[in-house]
Amino acid sequence: MQSFNFKCPTEIVFGKGAEEHIAEKIKAYGKSRVFIVYGGGSVIETGLLPRIESQLTAAGLSLQVRGGVKPNPRLAWVRGAINDAMIFKADFILAVGGGSVIDSAKAVAHGVANPGVDIWDFWSGKVKLEKTTAIGAVLTLAAAGSETSDSAVLTNEETGKKSGLNTDLNRPTLAFMNPELAFTAPKRQVFCGIADILMHTMERYFTTDPAPNDMTDLIAEGLMKNVIKHSRTLLHDPKNYDAMSEIMWCGSLSHNNLTGLGRAKDFACHKLGHELSGRFDVTHGASLTTVWGSWAGYVWQDNPERFAKFAEKVWDITEGTVEEKAQKGIEITIAYFKELDMPTNFTELGIGVQNKEMIEYLADMVTANGTKTVATFHPIDKETAMEIYNMANH
Ligand code: NZQ
Ligand code: ZN
Repeated sequence: MQSFNFKCPTEIVFGKGAEEHIAEKIKAYGKSRVFIVYGGGSVIETGLLPRIESQLTAAGLSLQVRGGVKPNPRLAWVRGAINDAMIFKADFILAVGGGSVIDSAKAVAHGVANPGVDIWDFWSGKVKLEKTTAIGAVLTLAAAGSETSDSAVLTNEETGKKSGLNTDLNRPTLAFMNPELAFTAPKRQVFCGIADILMHTMERYFTTDPAPNDMTDLIAEGLMKNVIKHSRTLLHDPKNYDAMSEIMWCGSLSHNNLTGLGRAKDFACHKLGHELSGRFDVTHGASLTTVWGSWAGYVWQDNPERFAKFAEKVWDITEGTVEEKAQKGIEITIAYFKELDMPTNFTELGIGVQNKEMIEYLADMVTANGTKTVATFHPIDKETAMEIYNMANH
């Protein structure tokens, strides 16, 4: 077995009514000044935020609330919120929402703990993050996995760059996961979330490591099969509690790195997708399915055995040569994305066919103007990024 380091310290409260335990859990960690972060207002419409505010106030905790986080969260909002949270002297940051809200809360937590440092300096790598403030997440959408992940993704609207910061300090102290809270999410967001969950494991499964850990593979294959099965239930029965529970739990397990232990992560499609979101503000999950088929079509011959294993274990494709199985696995995955009504090219994504200059701009953004490569399964340089974008550009 390959060596690995796995740290996943988040205390998870999962199931119906999970959010009723927020005050008692925050107090158990000795915190009393709670800065609540939320998004565009869905948590007010559903009554979730007022319920949480009443609960915390009744428990004697001090509160300040700041909404307005947008999907693909922006740096300027984060800077303003850090200022407010510092004046309030917050000792706990509580996110109520999806991945964008949780990622913004992570940034606020880092900002509060590091006065005088510009928050983007952590994202750009100029300054190393050494300390943070405790964070909790009340999850309203099964998707990004931010409730347990070591990652937080922000968009710098001044440069159009969307990038992630990876550090164990991003792992929340607490996560409250009640699958019923996700029932009010728009259908498109639910299936974008499901695509993201699946992709977090796929981006770890496609490895060039000669001997990936068997246990990691079995967990990854089981998780992918489970997501596919329960997503199909949600297609015709969107308020099925058991199906949403399975999806929500898979969302956390898919991105806390359990499905990638002992191997190098790839994340090519995330890098390519982030630039589409940075430039066109498209939903994260949709950006991933847009490029996946093109990426797979471009790289599968680097390791056909791995793609054939994916086809066999995830899609039960047992007939044919290694090459035939690999190709069938790619085709069936693309067909599955279409079944979920997810885009598989630029036109379906809604951005239309792009000119050569835009393709080059996107490839430059992925590769820092051609000065670096990203990903591990097939290293993506500027020319490769352009090829893959071009394959999706119809
Ligand atoms: O803003 P509100 O009003 O809350 O509405 C949101 C938003 O419009 C809505 N929504 C969420 N839960 C709802 C709901 N509406 C009604 N009822 C509910 N229960 O859904 C919209 C999208 O929300 P968002 O938080 O953007 O979605 P998601 O959870 O998919 O997060 C996407 C963001 O996370 C990043 C993505 O890049 C993107 O910026 N990621 C974060 C990762 C991480 N931190 O580990 C990893 C991922 O790979 C990803 O990059
Ligand atoms: Zn993702």
